[in-house]
Amino acid sequence: MNFDQVVNRVGTKSAKWDGMERAFGVAPGDGIAMWIADMDFAAPAFLSAAAQRYVDTGNYGYFTGMDEFHEAVAWWMKTRHGWQIERAWTFVTFGLGHGIATTLMALTERGDHIATFTPVYHEFQRKIEAAGRINTQLPLAVDDAGLYYMDFDAYEALMTGKEKLLLISSPHNPAGRVWTQDELSKLAAFCQKHDLILVSDEIHHDLVFPGHQHKTAALAMPEILDRLVVTCAASKTFNIAGARTGCVIIPDPALRKRFADYYGCFDINANGLGVALTCAAYSPEGAAWVDELTAYLAGNFEVFKAELADIPGATVMPMQSTYLSWVDFSGTGLGMDEVNTRVYKQAKIAATPGVGLGRGGENFLRFNLGTRSSLVAEAAARLKTAFGV
Ligand SMILES: Cc1ncc(COP(=O)(O)O)c(C=O)c1O
Repeated sequence: MNFDQVVNRVGTKSAKWDGMERAFGVAPGDGIAMWIADMDFAAPAFLSAAAQRYVDTGNYGYFTGMDEFHEAVAWWMKTRHGWQIERAWTFVTFGLGHGIATTLMALTERGDHIATFTPVYHEFQRKIEAAGRINTQLPLAVDDAGLYYMDFDAYEALMTGKEKLLLISSPHNPAGRVWTQDELSKLAAFCQKHDLILVSDEIHHDLVFPGHQHKTAALAMPEILDRLVVTCAASKTFNIAGARTGCVIIPDPALRKRFADYYGCFDINANGLGVALTCAAYSPEGAAWVDELTAYLAGNFEVFKAELADIPGATVMPMQSTYLSWVDFSGTGLGMDEVNTRVYKQAKIAATPGVGLGRGGENFLRFNLGTRSSLVAEAAARLKTAFGV
């Protein structure tokens, strides 16, 4: 796969490229889109062929064949993540945002508190609030190596006693922290102590850099299987988010029934194109492509980090997975208004403001490195110029 290929997405109805002028005032002509979490690479041939086969039917009516989808998901979870799932555990959703929102609605009540480790994917907070629930934000701490960790001692004082559910990103968006077994064991004890359902959003589970190993919550925390929901999708891994297809997996029968009672009333059926793409993605060819991709993304991060090291006071958090680099500008001594002016107006880069990701994100910007290396290098060079290097 040639990840270096120039792919022009401007004018393709790409939310990331065609939506950035409206969101940040960065025009697509000479701007660089580094916000919304999708990648700029051309789809691999095996995905395009699957989409073509779908189109070639010339009919987009109701369809059958969900056995193949469930077999593909189970095969991927087993071969890539070592987890043997059963078909009855898996509910298909219209993307994972929908899967998360449905889970929150099904398993909590209006007015309940839902905890998150912040800063985290901004949609967690938005969905919690839109659902009439209250977000208890538990800020991640930063260790000596500059990595996030869960500071359980500090969280005791922040828990209100009204939390019913904890929603985590594993690996973590932003910055791609891959939680260790030791951390996940402590997390399980925390969930037991506070009587919390754990929703482990593992949408980034495949984008782990060489040398790191993601462990699914189901295998890392068997002691809380009765209170565990795992969500995943092929959408981030294979850049098929537009096909809106995800999975909610619930091993425990009682918890699953609570979810199913709510989910069932919507008569949710899978998206036909999403099913076709997911089946093609979850294959040996897909596995080989992901291995190449993660090595490339790790390389992009090295380029970005090395270049930004020249900007005094800008600290790039080390990454272990994803393509969502997280940069702390507090050391520059500039206010975030000034930082934003330099990034959006001078460098002409659309990056995600960290303030929207919750407590602890205020001085950060998130940069999407899921693009060709030459563009990552160009972005880094523009940032250096904008910060006077
Ligand atoms: C942690 C996390 N969960 C869920 C999603 C959204 O997934 P979808 O596009 O399938 O709704 C994202 C997208 O960035 C994400 O980072």
